[in-house]
Amino acid sequence: MLPTIAWRGRYVIMIDQRKLPGQEVYVRCRTYIQAAQAIEKMVIRGAPAIGIAAAYGVVLGAMSLRGETGRSMARDFEKVFRRLERTRPTARSLFWALERMRAVYERTREAGLRAIRAALLEEARTIEREDAETNRSIGRHGQALLRDGWTVLTHCNAGALATAEYGTALGIVRAAVAEGKSIRVLADETRPFLQGARLTVWELDRDDIPAVLITDGMAGWMMRRGEVDAVVVGADRIARNGDTANKIGTYSLAVLAKENGIPFYVAAPVSTVDPAVADGGGIPIEERGPEEVREIGGRLVTLPYVEVRNPAFDVTPAALITAIVTERGVCRPPYEKSLRP
Ligand code: MRU
Repeated sequence: MLPTIAWRGRYVIMIDQRKLPGQEVYVRCRTYIQAAQAIEKMVIRGAPAIGIAAAYGVVLGAMSLRGETGRSMARDFEKVFRRLERTRPTARSLFWALERMRAVYERTREAGLRAIRAALLEEARTIEREDAETNRSIGRHGQALLRDGWTVLTHCNAGALATAEYGTALGIVRAAVAEGKSIRVLADETRPFLQGARLTVWELDRDDIPAVLITDGMAGWMMRRGEVDAVVVGADRIARNGDTANKIGTYSLAVLAKENGIPFYVAAPVSTVDPAVADGGGIPIEERGPEEVREIGGRLVTLPYVEVRNPAFDVTPAALITAIVTERGVCRPPYEKSLRP
């Protein structure tokens, strides 16, 4: 299984996802600031994985405090939480994990720094372990939607690298393959960060699952030609009505899938559903720097001063989503009802 992130006693290590597939190198984070920077710079990415990284970031923050008590300790913890919250705005898992860590801190704050640290580490480990279990359940439920011999189109990377292990969208593919079905994955390259070309293809290759790489603009034509049987993607945040934020380009795929009569599935843990957001209009969308669009692999491909837009996510309206697969099962519209806790 891929080591996306691991706790190593006094620090956390993460495989550097900016360098894959060319180099398999690990980054060590020894402070909460380093953990926050790793999330911002996308050393680690994918909604559940950044939630886990943030949870360990809180543990690192707690380890850096020295004998503080009372107000000064509360202030320092607040600084840690605020810094980690500021990293990436769209993924619900980040805030959900930090809310869990905050609840543990609040519960143990009178018990002294040692006990607080131990409880926070235990919670971060639990978040990581539960994510692995959740993904296997998503896989078990979702695999029933895929038939033997199908080609599944996916976007970005919603695999082991984006989670504790196994993946959500790719977890469904893995589970179908484990059931003995022959599944081929069509991977969108996913401009600008190229998660599909660099990460999804690498992950599937390691598992011997056949993968074919296409550029994002080819997806519609492949659908039109009957070369896609289903689209399966992950999610960063799901509103109560089922509107789903995911990697930029997902919305276009959903429109194309509808036009071509192809089922469009979203795979995500229940914790991705934001109870505070009624519909997609309330989901914050991250805008990233212009260099990601101006450059490919660090090489300029346009004029250095051209104006750029770089929204990292889009929102797919619930009406375009055939089903949302969670660890609880396959949820069908109306999502207000089927996603309700
Ligand atoms: O910008 P990224 O790489 O963090 O975006 C990731 C995605 O859009 C994934 O599809 C989503 O987080 C689900 S990962 C299981």
